[in-house]
Amino acid sequence: MIIDFRSDTVTKPTPQMLDAMLKADVGDDVFREDPTVNQLEKKMAAIFNMESALWCASGTMSNQVAIASHTRPGDEVICEQESHVYYYEGGGIAFNAGCQTKTLAGDRGRINARQVLASINPDDAHKSHSSLVCLENTSNRGGGSCYELEEIERIRTVCDEHHLKLHLDGARLYNALVAKNEKAAEFGKLFHSISVCFNKGLGCPAGSILLGTQTFIRQAIRVRKVFGGGMRQAGFLAATALYALDHHVERLATDHQHAKRIGEALQKHPLVKKILPVETNLVIFELIDGKDPKGFITSLKQKEILLLTISDKRLRIVTHLDISSAMVDHFLETLDQMQL
Ligand SMILES: Cc1ncc(COP(=O)(O)O)c(C=O)c1O
Repeated sequence: MIIDFRSDTVTKPTPQMLDAMLKADVGDDVFREDPTVNQLEKKMAAIFNMESALWCASGTMSNQVAIASHTRPGDEVICEQESHVYYYEGGGIAFNAGCQTKTLAGDRGRINARQVLASINPDDAHKSHSSLVCLENTSNRGGGSCYELEEIERIRTVCDEHHLKLHLDGARLYNALVAKNEKAAEFGKLFHSISVCFNKGLGCPAGSILLGTQTFIRQAIRVRKVFGGGMRQAGFLAATALYALDHHVERLATDHQHAKRIGEALQKHPLVKKILPVETNLVIFELIDGKDPKGFITSLKQKEILLLTISDKRLRIVTHLDISSAMVDHFLETLDQMQL
């Protein structure tokens, strides 16, 4: 039995999810005629209390569509230095939107209003036009850290005062909502646009939803088309998202408990030097000096336990739908046997 802690994107659809796909009523979504996509978009807009929503093939696509829809070539996008939009989207901000970035060093992936304010360019022809701030909640490279709503409110105030738009990469927003017992609509109030992924903790094979005003989504439909992201019978995938909204949200608490147990064991382990606080389903840690993370990964791989390095020093464990309590027990026993 392989225990795959590399990412929450490795999950396979459950039989019930496959059944929901088989039963999906579909149509041509480029004609906006797919009833299941339309149902999902309507449902997500209602949950987040935002005007409109758009199905996208991936989290990268919905972030990039949002950035290109909010900005003009030559603008500057403000984001955290290890945020997904900057660090992991292949230079898409430059490639797709023709914008430059100003990256800020955050606290476990989270930036604050003071930093945002200080990073906005003055109205000066020598300077790029600061037009968009992107936040990430939870933060991937920040180890699943969550923003405080009050900080986001302060950032939004800064954005409003300086006429910037605020986008949320909410690839794992449902993890934050469950961990902090927050309401989706509170986020809908604070952001001009939100991207939510279904292919991570929610366990779907593909897809994201982009949320915003009707005017913004009209522009986003154009940009999605230009990116080649107009899918036809996407309802088969949207059906998995509808299924996940009903069946896979509350259970995220189990993933968080699993991550906490793993975090507590690592904290005490003689091979571990440092671990980031565990808030949701991601566990990021470093081994003691002289221990090679690649060797650690290889010895676990021989025992059919998979994890990832995310830098020379840092390792990552992700809990998800396909990780059971028994798998966590087995991993912790294996870890116990890996002494100095
Ligand atoms: C924070 C964050 N945003 C966006 C994405 C992109 O999602 P996708 O893999 O669907 O393009 C990821 C993927 O891991 C992510 O972690």
